[in-house]
Amino acid sequence: MQAEDIKPLINNAPFTVTPAGPTIGAEISGINLAEPLGQAAFDALYATLMEYKVIYFHNQKMTADQQVAFGKRFGELEVHPFRPDLPNIPEMIVLDNHKDNPVLSTDIWHADTTFREEPTRFSILRCMIKPEFGGDTLWADMVSAYECLSTPVKEMITGLEALHDFKNFSLLYADDEEGQQKLLKMRKLYPRPTHPVVRTHPDTRERVLYVNPQFTIRMLGMSVKESDAILNLLYEQSKTPEYQFRLHWEPDTLCMWDNAGVQHYASNDYWPHRRRMERVAVIGEKPYFDPDAKPASDPKSVTRAHAYEGLH
Ligand code: SIN
Repeated sequence: MQAEDIKPLINNAPFTVTPAGPTIGAEISGINLAEPLGQAAFDALYATLMEYKVIYFHNQKMTADQQVAFGKRFGELEVHPFRPDLPNIPEMIVLDNHKDNPVLSTDIWHADTTFREEPTRFSILRCMIKPEFGGDTLWADMVSAYECLSTPVKEMITGLEALHDFKNFSLLYADDEEGQQKLLKMRKLYPRPTHPVVRTHPDTRERVLYVNPQFTIRMLGMSVKESDAILNLLYEQSKTPEYQFRLHWEPDTLCMWDNAGVQHYASNDYWPHRRRMERVAVIGEKPYFDPDAKPASDPKSVTRAHAYEGLH
């Protein structure tokens, strides 16, 4: 979808769009996602996702099969190599955290599965059981994160590549012969890919900061000391509240986000209470950097203010 098509499609959307955050996040109402999406609704929804990067819908009662069908409208669904899934629905991962199953690694800023050559593009997460309190998810706008870097830092990192790894998921394998054999098999199936540190958004052509503390391990072409220092500086960008959006879940809230433009963090503040979420995800393309790509729109106002007032 071309950037100039986005606004007209949103203006004519057959549902209501209510912006909910400074640069990303919008609530969508007046649509039932359990029903098949017609072409006009699909195009408007896609445009809304490109504009707001995180869109959410309350009161979406649906079966797992209906959530799968909704996801498939956006592309081929991935099967996550490490997360548990629903019986007979390998595309549906289950994040069911409680007293006996503490969170593993969703409470670290990340874009989904950047340890893959072709990482997740869209994630579609539905709340099944909400904890008594807490359990919000936060997203950071990684276009603003890039825009708010100073010009010398932008120039230094643009065009560089970084190495990614499934890192914490190796903790799922026992420290014995059998566990280590299984881990070795996964290492062969998922060798470490490199991705651009600044990627070009495949639809909007914006520049996106694309390193994350969950899966990125090394900037290429630098010493470990240099790489660690620069990665830590870049990881700080996603922690900036001015371009974050935070969602408080209710059962049957469904949220969809574009991993080519945002990172997320699931607040791990509810243990030992239970929080159960189910997710399907659409496979993306290999991230790339196109030095000639020009975004069609100006940075959003908060981004402009933050960058130009010298706060960074
Ligand atoms: C995820 O990292 O995809 C899970 C986010 C969440 O549980 O809120």
